[in-house]
Amino acid sequence: MHPAYPVDGTYAGESKTNWRCKECHGWDYQGRDGVYGRGKHATGIKGIQAMAGEDPGKIVAVLKDATHAYGPPMVDEDFQDLANFVSKGQVDMNRYIDRATKMARGHVSKRQDYYKSICAGCHSRDGHKLRTILPLGGVARDNPWETLHKILNGHPAEKMPALRVLNRQTLIDILAYIQNLPNGEILSSIVRGGRLYDNWRKELGQLFLSNAGPDYPANKRHPAYPITGKFSKKPLTHWRCKECHGWDYSGRDGVFSEGIHFTDIKGIQNRTGSGLGPIIAILKDDNHRYGNILSVQDFRDLANFVSAGQVDMNKYIDHMSGLAKGDRTKDKALYTTICASCHGLDGTLVINISPLGRTTRKNPQGALHKMINGHPGEAMPALRALGMETLTNILAYVQTLPAQR
Ligand code: HEC
Ligand code: HEC
Ligand code: HEC
Ligand code: HEC
Repeated sequence: MHPAYPVDGTYAGESKTNWRCKECHGWDYQGRDGVYGRGKHATGIKGIQAMAGEDPGKIVAVLKDATHAYGPPMVDEDFQDLANFVSKGQVDMNRYIDRATKMARGHVSKRQDYYKSICAGCHSRDGHKLRTILPLGGVARDNPWETLHKILNGHPAEKMPALRVLNRQTLIDILAYIQNLPNGEILSSIVRGGRLYDNWRKELGQLFLSNAGPDYPANKRHPAYPITGKFSKKPLTHWRCKECHGWDYSGRDGVFSEGIHFTDIKGIQNRTGSGLGPIIAILKDDNHRYGNILSVQDFRDLANFVSAGQVDMNKYIDHMSGLAKGDRTKDKALYTTICASCHGLDGTLVINISPLGRTTRKNPQGALHKMINGHPGEAMPALRALGMETLTNILAYVQTLPAQR
């Protein structure tokens, strides 16, 4: 832990975070007087603005003092650069970004060519391309100070250019433009989260699977999977969320309360409506350990699914008989037009799976989950938008299809 970081601070246990200058002094360089005055990043530490214009030598001394304790691997050149930044590189964020609304004081379309020519090559026109970060529009709306800092200075250890030499107002206009880029669609995030819940390895692609060597965490036993469980020697199976929490999201209280899938693990239904942060924290905890495996976007999608994507399977499927509580004649035409192009009129056309008539009777909850969210790694469409009544009707029809080829 950094010696100056408060012991009761949110990131006290994370040296990777609490040694970053921005963690104590803020993206707006104002410390406790700025955006970090409140919330999980609050430390009560002052900003660095008073040192703007100061002799760099003095600033280097501050960085090496007992409060800061910076030393190797930082070398003289690093200290010089940091001091030059503190002395000559700070901008007055309050002048360019409205603290209350977080909006950039710029023109939203005037400099869009700059974004399209300089940034879009890496970030794509809609700002969605890089999978390791959230959609750029959302980032810029959520944290315009960080975004402006990166526009000025670039992103650490990446080829992203630093645009400091351009006219300041141009940069603010670029920021304003980015703030208007679309966010990741919530519905597409939820259904992708549903496919990750089903089988994240398949959704992330077979290549990902075969590239992962024996040291890859998800090739070993999942820390929470019972040693006595039926699939304890099958990490490919038991790292799937559905294996512990069920197709009905009810874990030991649902369909997986008995049989080969029994694990005695609880469901995730209580987390409906939870904030994304707490859910993502669960997925990274020692119990789950997906931290080094999934990307920012994956976590976001999973959390959106857990929070807003679960349905009450018992409402649509009779728990005892497994039959869909729908009208099997009413939406037959939707099967014929949407599903049959791949599955065939009798549901037997996709040859590497059992006939749909059989699987939908054997595992109706799994089938409904896939109809709502799509099948991982396949072109099968997610039909969540059709609504649960219609989907239950389609399921009821599919359950009448032949069980044999
Ligand atoms: C864990 C928290 C923490 C981190 C990380 C940190 N600082 Fe500080 N910094 C402080 C504290 C506390 C003070 C105030 C010390 C005081 O009041 O005498 C300070 C003071 C300063 C000052 C003097 C400000 C003034 O007006 O006197 C500068 C400049 C500074 N830090 C730069 C940096 C830089 C650059 C980095 C990253 C290399 C950094 N700090 C990282 C906690 C931190
Ligand atoms: C050469 C490729 C490249 C160009 C050009 C580029 N970026 Fe980036 N940018 C990146 C990479 C790579 C990252 C970091 C991804 C990561 O952290 O995993 C990044 C990160 C960012 C981040 C931080 C997002 C976050 O959540 O951490 C912002 C903001 C950003 N870029 C804005 C811009 C803007 C605005 C432009 C144009 C002025 C631009 N970038 C141009 C490659 C580029
Ligand atoms: C090998 C088994 C296993 C797998 C796989 C697994 N979990 Fe869990 N999960 C658990 C256990 C055990 C708990 C309960 C911990 C406890 O009781 O505090 C849990 C708890 C949760 C909770 C909190 C539930 C609550 O009510 O507090 C959520 C949300 C969750 N898991 C989501 C997921 C998601 C999403 C995935 C897939 C990315 C996943 N889990 C994969 C075992 C697993
Ligand atoms: C674009 C083609 C396509 C469309 C359209 C499509 N599916 Fe699928 N579906 C697939 C493929 C491919 C698989 C599974 C491939 C695999 O696991 O090897 C699949 C799997 C399934 C499964 C899981 C079966 C199992 O044993 O795991 C169900 C249930 C299912 N589809 C139902 C439907 C229903 C109902 C519709 C219409 C609402 C539909 N599908 C539309 C291609 C499609």
